[in-house]
Amino acid sequence: MCTGDPKATITQLQLEELVRVAQEASKAAYNPYSKFSVGCALLCKSGKIYTGSNIENASFSVTICAERVAASQAIHRDDRDWLAMTVVSPSRVTPCGVCRQFLSEFSPHLPIWIGYLQGGDLTGPMLVSQMLPFAMTLSPSQESNLS
Ligand code: THU
Repeated sequence: MCTGDPKATITQLQLEELVRVAQEASKAAYNPYSKFSVGCALLCKSGKIYTGSNIENASFSVTICAERVAASQAIHRDDRDWLAMTVVSPSRVTPCGVCRQFLSEFSPHLPIWIGYLQGGDLTGPMLVSQMLPFAMTLSPSQESNLS
């Protein structure tokens, strides 16, 4: 078993499948500028897996990362209970700050595994809350954590 969030547990088999699905998803990347392919797979408690790849734009800052594409597909289908995410790329990148904030809105303790397009070593689980402590929220309860 692979545990990140104590409430969220996935098996080694599920993790391996989630890596394969992310690798496959990376093939759809639209990345004419960076040529850097990223694939993402998001497993929901519903059992469904949503995928994403990076979508670039001539106006570079408009680019959408693979993580936000996968998460948006799940959110759009009202599938908001998330178990685990995998992200694969040529150099095992971790989610950018914008993606951390985006994911934190829906699943602050989501466990994420990072791997390579071509397979091999996996890093994880890393929780969104570890990657982005003090994420921005409008919740008043957060104020009590600030001194
Ligand atoms: N990218 C992602 O899709 N996810 C990440 O976690 C990091 C970066 C994309 C954005 C851009 O298309 C390319 O990778 C190079 O930064």
